Amino acid sequence: MRKKIVAGNWKMNKTLEEAKALLSEVVNMVKDEVTGDVTVVLCPPALYLTTSRQYITAGGRVALGAQNCHEKASGAYTGEISAPMLQSIGVEYVILGHSERRQYFGETNAQLADKVNSALENGLTPIFCCGESRDLRENGDYIGFVKDQLTDSLFHLSAETFAKVVIAYEPIWAIGTGLTASSAQAQDMHFEIRRHIAGQYGDAIAQDITILYGGSANEKNAAELFAQPDVDGGLIGGASLKSREFTNVVKAVN
Ligand code: PGA
Repeated sequence: MRKKIVAGNWKMNKTLEEAKALLSEVVNMVKDEVTGDVTVVLCPPALYLTTSRQYITAGGRVALGAQNCHEKASGAYTGEISAPMLQSIGVEYVILGHSERRQYFGETNAQLADKVNSALENGLTPIFCCGESRDLRENGDYIGFVKDQLTDSLFHLSAETFAKVVIAYEPIWAIGTGLTASSAQAQDMHFEIRRHIAGQYGDAIAQDITILYGGSANEKNAAELFAQPDVDGGLIGGASLKSREFTNVVKAVN
């Protein structure tokens, strides 16, 4: 059974007090209103992860995620945070390869392969982001580009390990722009991603992999996006910063 997930990527937003308010609101709304089989992953700034843990009951529907981790376990990497550190404070998921990390911090497919390894070795579930630029979408082989991102950063994994990864398709042109991919565009790419995975790992594993859509998803468009057969939930940026809207997006999954 494919797991449904809605993850909130808060990015670099919220003061501590604001973060606490948002956490308690979302956790309560999800507890009171969300039924059915969906996991909610909250990814606040790393600074607030320890505090956030206190709002989240172990074994419940809501889980904690980080927005990034370093590829090494420890060492002289000033300012960085490692997968074992995240694991030690009860983080379960980590977003890796977000396009903002690729674009502003120069993360490469090869480096992301190392980050994925470190996350998995330390019991974290990577939410691995892929997606093409607007220029590629309009003028290039954007499907090939996304396939290469998966091949280069994930396909070294054994089938058993790969099965633990969550994929997030996030077309860069749709992130934070208000330009959502149409549900057909999302479905087409998710289908291609699943087919690419099937080519490497076989149909059974491909059918079981959770593939999230991200990019200007909100309470208005989520239901249609999530209704697509190969869309298993979302990675939500802007709309995850408001408790009411985010909870509505979570509810749209079922
Ligand atoms: P957005 O961001 O929902 O604000 O477009 C999504 C993301 O970057 O994960």
